[in-house]
Amino acid sequence: MIKKVAILANGGDVSGLNAVIRAIKKTAEVNGIECYGYIDGYRGLVNNNYIRLDGNPKASGILQKGGAIIGSSTNAIVFHYKVENPDGTIEYKDLSDQCVQNVKDAGFDCVFTLGGDSTQKGARDLFIKGINVIGVPKTIDNDVACTDVTFGYNTAVSVATEAIDRLHTTAETHDRIMVLEVMGRSAGWIALESAIAGGADVALIPEIPYDINKAAEAIKKRIAVGKRFSVVVVSEGAFPKGGEATSHAAEGIDDKAGISIKYGGEGQRVAKMLQELTGLEARCTILGYMQRGGTPTAYDRVLSTKYGAKAMELAMEGKFGVLTVLKNGKLDYVNLEEVVGNNKELGAVQGGTENSNVRNVTMDNDLVKTALDIGICLGK
Ligand code: F6P
Repeated sequence: MIKKVAILANGGDVSGLNAVIRAIKKTAEVNGIECYGYIDGYRGLVNNNYIRLDGNPKASGILQKGGAIIGSSTNAIVFHYKVENPDGTIEYKDLSDQCVQNVKDAGFDCVFTLGGDSTQKGARDLFIKGINVIGVPKTIDNDVACTDVTFGYNTAVSVATEAIDRLHTTAETHDRIMVLEVMGRSAGWIALESAIAGGADVALIPEIPYDINKAAEAIKKRIAVGKRFSVVVVSEGAFPKGGEATSHAAEGIDDKAGISIKYGGEGQRVAKMLQELTGLEARCTILGYMQRGGTPTAYDRVLSTKYGAKAMELAMEGKFGVLTVLKNGKLDYVNLEEVVGNNKELGAVQGGTENSNVRNVTMDNDLVKTALDIGICLGK
């Protein structure tokens, strides 16, 4: 019988985090289990910093709230943790043993890890070191292996779709090409799905290195039939054939944290090229963090609640080292090893490497077929 559990959130926030926290907490309350939340994810695990959630009024009324009431850490890898020495020098230390001890001392029977590929990689490694973990797949990018969908993704698509709707009217009014750059890292899910939902004319995704001339041709065809405007969705990780996606080194983030490269700027590049090739004025909008903040859609509230309740159920059954998933629309779980197992190295700096199991858009996916069927140009 488990008595005490803790939740931690790691990585970029998404809408739905609080809904998962609430569902775990409520299921714990129903079953008389104490529920805690680590403050700022893996950072809280290192510093042994947590708060009680069950019975806490501050953990109530959070279903519809964006963000996470317990915070979330980015660039916090317990196996490679940035420590500032008293003399100001920086060192990277493996603090995983300290984390294992902290969990034991606190008496947590299970730690729920809410996060994407990198987070679940860390969770798998901590499981191997003796912590009972259960992962819940979180990311707007929708790129976690073994699940149909991650929580937060639907809200991001919904925000992007609304942006496309709004860009349509201004594009039409001014005879312009409106480019919308959306997030997703190396996965094109948000771009592809929102392009279909918003009726965009072109969608460029990382899984299909683009030929800008093809996109320009599609726009020129529209001009030829009197449609002197177009809407183009560009995934931040999209790149031209033979080229690379536009990215920059993120300030203040050390290379050793492994996450120094940030995408951003590809939309601007595409807009510039399309303006030159088509003769239409082009403008670029970067949607950015709008996709992660604010209230979750009804779909994400339900998905998050299902994932949270399932995670607690698995803990009560003693099934650890697993991830809650949705498989062919049905709630289920898989071993974390299946999710991140390509990256065998214990304590590797990050999950999102070429060794990781990240789930990309495949060419046989219905979204690709549907987009092509209705004439959305995918840049090829
Ligand atoms: O992985 C989620 C995500 O929002 C990506 O889509 C984006 O590239 C990245 O995080 C941005 O990271 P940060 O919050 O560190 O700027």
